[in-house]
Amino acid sequence: MIDKSLSSIETPAVLLDDARLRNNIRLIQELASAQGVNVRPHIKTHKCLEILRLQMDAGAVGITASKTDEALTFINNGARSVTIAYPLVVDAKLDRLIEVSRSRNVDLRLIVDSLAGVEAISRTARRHGAQIDIFLKIDVGLHRCGVKEGDPLLIKLAKAVDGESALNLLGLLSHAGHAYGAQTSEDVRKIAQDECSILARVRGQLQSAGLEISEVSVGSTPTVLASDSFDGITEIRPGNYVFMDRTPLRFNLIEPNQIALTVFATVVSANSDYFIIDTGSKTLSSDLGAHGIAGVEGYGLVYPADRFQEKDSEMVVVKLSEEHGFVARRHFDLPMGSKLRIVPNHSCVAANLADAYTVVSDEQVVDQWEIVARGKVR
Ligand SMILES: Cc1ncc(COP(=O)(O)O)c(C=O)c1O
Repeated sequence: MIDKSLSSIETPAVLLDDARLRNNIRLIQELASAQGVNVRPHIKTHKCLEILRLQMDAGAVGITASKTDEALTFINNGARSVTIAYPLVVDAKLDRLIEVSRSRNVDLRLIVDSLAGVEAISRTARRHGAQIDIFLKIDVGLHRCGVKEGDPLLIKLAKAVDGESALNLLGLLSHAGHAYGAQTSEDVRKIAQDECSILARVRGQLQSAGLEISEVSVGSTPTVLASDSFDGITEIRPGNYVFMDRTPLRFNLIEPNQIALTVFATVVSANSDYFIIDTGSKTLSSDLGAHGIAGVEGYGLVYPADRFQEKDSEMVVVKLSEEHGFVARRHFDLPMGSKLRIVPNHSCVAANLADAYTVVSDEQVVDQWEIVARGKVR
């Protein structure tokens, strides 16, 4: 008989708890449906067709992607409504995206935050005889991409999109990623409320200028979990929620039993200060949190596999080499070869570093799912 217990898994491995994953997907879909908003999950988190299938079965309306080749992987595997929530300003990327989208009848939505972006998309769309739906990207506080409320560029961009027959001004899109740096769930809730208010004001301003905005898209896992209303919003785009990690846990926005992704590791050496494990930055990444925000201490919460999420047995990965992790010792010893489960700081990057998810149910391996779009960073 084949051994399907956790002890049969070679480490490091990325474990995915099937029931917790399905619960997380159901939770967000129910939360969105209760508020009358659509879910368009960001697939940069999981990059996996099996997980997208679960999201679509639950009621998702399509996907959000960051990168062109990541999106193409999903389009070539059946995705039919795709938002690239990333500024595309280079013709070569737009060419291959629009060509495949046209041939596969994909409802493609792109974002702009510069006139150069508008020009690149309209030039490429015209070349392919396509019409592309466009979101104006609004900066609501992360200060990464997007135009700020009140910036005169906003009206200029909206008019440029509206006046171009190859483009259709569809809506506003924002990502309140700065919520990852908040201190409390109340702060996160406030960021989510501010985001809705900013978008409502921008929409009003554009409508006064005769520019119709039919969709308003927001999304980050912390803000979605913390929001009590999605006033004026038509769609949410969370990604991380399928797995969760130390950020929503830190805000007490989730219960520990909602952590679906863990990294499975083995103790390979020990000294007076540390257990040394076979899992370093090449598996966990060196992320202290999303968006370069250091929200937590160390690189992951660690538990002996047979005492998973027991507070009294909790340890921390305090340092990383590429292939080794340093786990600070506590009051108990662990024999060489002991198996550990790690809750990573940032599950999205841990997923991107692996080839496959080892899917587990009741401590038994039930499947292996390929992370098919891993490394698609172009
Ligand atoms: C533009 C955009 N939308 C949505 C998301 C999803 O956010 P989260 O992973 O917090 O759910 C991200 C994540 O980085 C993003 O960059």
